[in-house]
Amino acid sequence: MTADEQKKAAAIRALEYVKPGMKLGLGTGSTAEHFVRALGEKVAQGLDVVCVPTSERTGKLAASLGIALSNLDDTPHLDITVDGADELDRDLRLIKGGGGALLREKIVATASERMIVIADASKVVERLGDFPLPVEVIPFGAAVTARRIAEVAGQFDCTGKLSRRADEYGEPFFTDSENFIYDCTFGEIPDPDGLAAALNLIPGVVDNGLFIGIAALAIVGMPSGTDIIEKT
Ligand code: A5P
Repeated sequence: MTADEQKKAAAIRALEYVKPGMKLGLGTGSTAEHFVRALGEKVAQGLDVVCVPTSERTGKLAASLGIALSNLDDTPHLDITVDGADELDRDLRLIKGGGGALLREKIVATASERMIVIADASKVVERLGDFPLPVEVIPFGAAVTARRIAEVAGQFDCTGKLSRRADEYGEPFFTDSENFIYDCTFGEIPDPDGLAAALNLIPGVVDNGLFIGIAALAIVGMPSGTDIIEKT
């Protein structure tokens, strides 16, 4: 299977965990999109679920497929969130935010009984950090916040370039919550748990793309079939 076929196979397997009447969080990105489309087919056949999207983009797609949508104010407890990841390790620690939706993704995932990650095989790594870590920062004083991120990361043996994300026109990228993202090219992150906690203590940092202790299960599309990684 190609990487995209692996994403789709993982997404379709995730449907096995969805039961009628469930409240679901819908992730963002190309893998999550496969799940939303597959879910849309089930809804068209009569499956009754209510979903909270993690981005405007996913919300639009789900609405176009006739999926009933809600928000966390009206639906604060979700059964399952199904979302992709940029990287995951065998302890189900993740890097997310390549699509810029990390903040809502983390809020929705932590409002769920269970987060299920769906991914192609290339996303599974021994150590996190090859994928640049996204850190969401409020625009006020962003350059100062970025310097502080570099200092704090250095205390965790993470050094490298911090680049403010730009859109396809070279203009600053804004998240759905009107914040900036700094992509941090640290390379291998020796202590993801410590770094995740320390980054979020910096004034101006809204959140970072390390998801620690949140995912309960991962479904990984392989060259043939799918594999499950479960929390031990
Ligand atoms: C969106 O902000 C991200 O967290 C995505 O879940 C992640 O980038 C995975 O995206 P793909 O499924 O497109 O690889």
